[in-house]
Amino acid sequence: MRLSVIGCGYLGAVHAAAMASIGHDVVGIDVDKSKVASLTAGRAPFFEPGLQQILESGLASGRLTFTTDIAAAHGADVHFVGVGTPQVRDGYAADLTYVNAAIDALLPHLRPGDVVAGKSTVPVGTAAALAERVEPTGATLVWNPEFLREGWAVKDTIDPDRLVVGVPVDGGERAAQILREVYHTAVAKETPFLVTDLATAELVKVAANAFLATKISFINAMAEIAEVSGADVTQLADAIGHDVRIGRRFLGAGIGFGGGCLPKDIRAFSARAEELGRSESVAFLREVDAINLRRRDRAVQLVVEGLGGSVFKKNVTVLGAAFKPHSDDVRDSPALDVAVRLHGLGAWVTITDPAAIENARRLHPQLNYVEERDEAIRGADAIILVTEWDEYRRELDPSHAAELATGRVVVDGRNGLDAAAWRAAGWTYYGMGRP
Ligand code: UDX
Repeated sequence: MRLSVIGCGYLGAVHAAAMASIGHDVVGIDVDKSKVASLTAGRAPFFEPGLQQILESGLASGRLTFTTDIAAAHGADVHFVGVGTPQVRDGYAADLTYVNAAIDALLPHLRPGDVVAGKSTVPVGTAAALAERVEPTGATLVWNPEFLREGWAVKDTIDPDRLVVGVPVDGGERAAQILREVYHTAVAKETPFLVTDLATAELVKVAANAFLATKISFINAMAEIAEVSGADVTQLADAIGHDVRIGRRFLGAGIGFGGGCLPKDIRAFSARAEELGRSESVAFLREVDAINLRRRDRAVQLVVEGLGGSVFKKNVTVLGAAFKPHSDDVRDSPALDVAVRLHGLGAWVTITDPAAIENARRLHPQLNYVEERDEAIRGADAIILVTEWDEYRRELDPSHAAELATGRVVVDGRNGLDAAAWRAAGWTYYGMGRP
């Protein structure tokens, strides 16, 4: 099939390359010239495992192209819209400027029978409004939310755990059938394919992210209780996680969630619920947000405590900058935030990360970045793990770290280190919600 993908960020670039990899003819369109140039040259503009390969093979096959010219969308059977919906500057709501601009630009190029498939995360009700604008062209607007996780985006796009398509009353069945053909490899594997109305599809996405955020904040709230009662939240998570109704995943207590999705999505959900007169229904999301942000304070507090009450003029090495491992994304990164707070308290902060240094430096040029892990640890009075890359969690030997560092204080902001091994090597170990 011929597909266009409007917006070539984390979502769109992966979607375009993934769709080419399963046999479609795809044009990726973005207003950002440098992004398009980089993609056209076969360079993934961000770190995402597997993207480089499918990008190169797609370009080589001739089935994948990128352009800044929206007219290139003309002739595609399906137009995916995957532009960003960031938090507005002066509030909690989602900024729909890019979605509206993408639809405006696309309208003159739509043909009767085309399908416009929204993938961006939007406030419920957006799709119905956009559908009214698309309808006069004879095209059909559907909403096809994306559940990809950064670091697993290629796999999640080609082999998702479910597909959801929200369709309008008129022409919905035909449009759903077209999307089944687009996702032919997943459909052949009998991946659950749910056809809903537009509002449900929009809500599925925000509900899923709200649930995940709530699960993380739940265990972090338990960590807070563990801290004042002497309990160990990691054992607690293991024990409750054995109940299949609860499940162990996303019960990782630590410095909490960040990234380009969960924080802004729960805030946009609160803002939308308020507009709909139902703010009380998701009032708990404010608490989820507050618990999440408190954990960053706690991590900083542990470093201060470990260093005897002050970090002023102390060397603190921060292991990680990305909001999670296998990503170079520092948007709303709790890791980077912890580093900035320590810097604000007068510590000499050195940050290292296998993938995110460049992005972190752009955002916080005042901090000291060191590429090489051991070099970063050398001379540290304390180290704090904030992004659980294997380089730090599994491959960093505590005795080796002790030879490099000056002090023996380690704060485990992700509860990812082997506490016993670090203690045995002479370190004073502080976990999150652990004695
Ligand atoms: C999330 C959703 O998982 C995905 O379905 C959606 O499409 C986009 O948002 P992503 O932002 O890539 O994906 O990251 P995710 O793996 O969900 O992690 C989010 C944050 O939660 C990270 O900062 C991570 O470190 C943190 N986290 C995750 C925890 O603190 N504890 C956990 O147990 C799990």
